[in-house]
Amino acid sequence: MTAFDAEVAAYTKANPKSKKLHDRATAVLPGGDTRNSIFWNPFPVYLTHAEGTQLTDVDGNVRTDFVNNMTTLIMGHRHPDVTAALHEQVDRGVSYPAPAPPVIRWAELLCERVPSLDKVRFVNSGTEATLNAIRAVRAYTGKTLIAKCEGAYHGNHDAIQISVTPPLSKAGDAEDPDAVVMFPGINPAAADDIVIMPYNNLEASERIIRSRASELAAVIVEPINGQCGMVPAKPEFLQLLRDLTSELGIPLIFDEVISFRAASGGAQEWYGITPDMTCFGKVIGGGLPVGAFGGKEEIMQLWDPNHGSDFVQHAGTFNGNPMTAVAGVTTLELLTPDVYEQLERKGEKLRQMIRDLITELEVPMGVTGATSLFALQFTTEPVTDYRSYATNDKEMLQTVFTGLLNEGILMSNRCAGNVSAVHTDDDLDVFVSALRRVLVRAGYA
Ligand SMILES: Cc1ncc(COP(=O)(O)O)c(C=O)c1O
Repeated sequence: MTAFDAEVAAYTKANPKSKKLHDRATAVLPGGDTRNSIFWNPFPVYLTHAEGTQLTDVDGNVRTDFVNNMTTLIMGHRHPDVTAALHEQVDRGVSYPAPAPPVIRWAELLCERVPSLDKVRFVNSGTEATLNAIRAVRAYTGKTLIAKCEGAYHGNHDAIQISVTPPLSKAGDAEDPDAVVMFPGINPAAADDIVIMPYNNLEASERIIRSRASELAAVIVEPINGQCGMVPAKPEFLQLLRDLTSELGIPLIFDEVISFRAASGGAQEWYGITPDMTCFGKVIGGGLPVGAFGGKEEIMQLWDPNHGSDFVQHAGTFNGNPMTAVAGVTTLELLTPDVYEQLERKGEKLRQMIRDLITELEVPMGVTGATSLFALQFTTEPVTDYRSYATNDKEMLQTVFTGLLNEGILMSNRCAGNVSAVHTDDDLDVFVSALRRVLVRAGYA
């Protein structure tokens, strides 16, 4: 029996009620759920309760959560202030057919914290945030082409579901990657409107941007790449993108759906590099569905219905709904400079503890990340871009992911994680001890 088979057998034995629910779910939901990002084989666990850092499933298993709903719950589950704000709003009504005052405070908080933001609009997902930011720059420039990085996920819509995890057989030259449509159903023509840059490769990205400069509506980049394992951009890479786009008159979009948790002003404050437009999601909604996009007045004014005949239509039944707004305002107000300092300290400490364990057990793996974000990499290559990420040993990844579930730890199904404000140093020890047991079982000792 392989180490993976052994972990799956133990997992199946410990989670019979989840298995039963999954069998029922697959009859009515393709794959048993509505999010592929929380799917794993042989079946996911079904959760009934979450508190702080702890998740309880239907079988009564308790696990320490290092996913926090994909980096969203920066204050942990059921923070009392957020819960109280939501209860209060429930009593006032959950959504209205006219604006609610908390939305103004929410927008003010973002514009105060993010100097590049003159104005902002709220939506219900990070997907809608990038969709609208791309529409904004296309409306503003009158151009269509977007430059994005290989291995970057910017949401689930046609314009940008290109070269996220392309098979290497189709991905072309590492220095000049092809634009690969990610799955059937996406308009194949979407790939014609995208040019792909290798992440963190200054020379190649400069060449690619310069060669298409006159056609580009924007360059979009994630300051810390989530898809490849929370891989931070080299500061000089982001600076190059900023200098080049300024020189060539191309709007620069930062996708901060994940990286906004880096600092009060997001990764743009952390790096000291200012984009023209920013996309938000996750933490700004305090755990409820959310997205936002914003930036310079001259671009955002296109969204004002009084702007004139060329204004950009933007609707959305639940945009800026008061439930998300109060959860978002409460969360942002809880995020004081001290909280960010602690998040970064805990993130650095955890990555160092994992590195020490890898060295001690001589495991062919690594750890990536920045601030409160981290990911396990099952390769000895330093992971700085998609091509190095693609060297991961997938079987080992799945063995460790399943082993950690058996040891009471939840990571994302790609072995990425993050710490929240309520993780303690003890939680970090719990993680590393669990990882040690899993690696020892896998034959490293
Ligand atoms: C960088 C980035 N952009 C956009 C999105 C899409 O956000 P959502 O899942 O809220 O649609 C994600 C989601 O994980 C993301 O990580």
